Amino acid sequence: MACFSIWEIRKYMNDLYNPFPSLYHCHHQNFTEDLAFWQSLARWQGDPILELGCGTGRILIPLAQAGHEVYGIDNSHAMLAFLKQRIPIDLQSNIHLIEANMLDFQIDAEFRMVLLPCNTYSTFDAQARARMLARIFQQLKPGGVFAVSMPSPNLLRALQTNEDADVEAIFSHPDTGNPVQVSSTWEKQENLVKINWHYDHLLPDGKIERVTASIPHYLATLEDYVTEMISAGFTIQSTYRNFETGSYKPDASYLIIIAQK
Ligand SMILES: C[S@@+](CC[C@H](N)C(=O)[O-])C[C@H]1O[C@@H](n2cnc3c(N)ncnc32)[C@H](O)[C@@H]1O
Repeated sequence: MACFSIWEIRKYMNDLYNPFPSLYHCHHQNFTEDLAFWQSLARWQGDPILELGCGTGRILIPLAQAGHEVYGIDNSHAMLAFLKQRIPIDLQSNIHLIEANMLDFQIDAEFRMVLLPCNTYSTFDAQARARMLARIFQQLKPGGVFAVSMPSPNLLRALQTNEDADVEAIFSHPDTGNPVQVSSTWEKQENLVKINWHYDHLLPDGKIERVTASIPHYLATLEDYVTEMISAGFTIQSTYRNFETGSYKPDASYLIIIAQK
């Protein structure tokens, strides 16, 4: 799983010195596997487009670069501040950023597409998903779609507690140039798997500065997701297993759902 959500920041509470956005960005900027998929949906659906949990703009900026009018919601002030300083001046009028909770946002616009990429949907329990779906439905134009990508339910269910943190990626720290090693550990609980993402900044004196983000992923089935969306008034348009639009299969790595209002 290449992507993860960052909102439970344990170590750095002061946004001004919060290192997460730049660490997240360095780690994820080369994750482009899904970009063409979102771009092509955006071309098909038209504007305006809303991204929930837009983070550092990995997807929002390329959508704006392709000429789309985009709105991005995130509840992390630090992520939005980092994103703001990345937006090229000529795109500023096409990108609208809103600091809000995606469970109860309200925007004075109706959207042709609402997207929730990068494994964030499964970090909400059923009650929260129902709240979010009700809001999304309200904000979509008739015929508009909600498009969401998440880890495959079977893949999540199969994860067992694993306390061995193998190094999964290494990049240079954006401020110091020292290596940062990324690893994860998992804790299986009754209805969720908690994934602890560790960023270890290796300092020249041999010390390690660790920043950890702990993310719960709730266990649900494809049928649960589909039933919830239908209850919220959506029609399921497609379910994919990858960003090349292969049909969903239980042994997939991803579950991507396109639901239409
Ligand atoms: C995994 S990151 C994805 C960022 C970006 N969409 C991407 O694809 O790289 C998830 C983002 O969702 C945001 N987020 C998590 N829970 C949220 C909530 N309840 N309301 C708004 N944003 C939230 C986090 O702050 C984080 O920036």
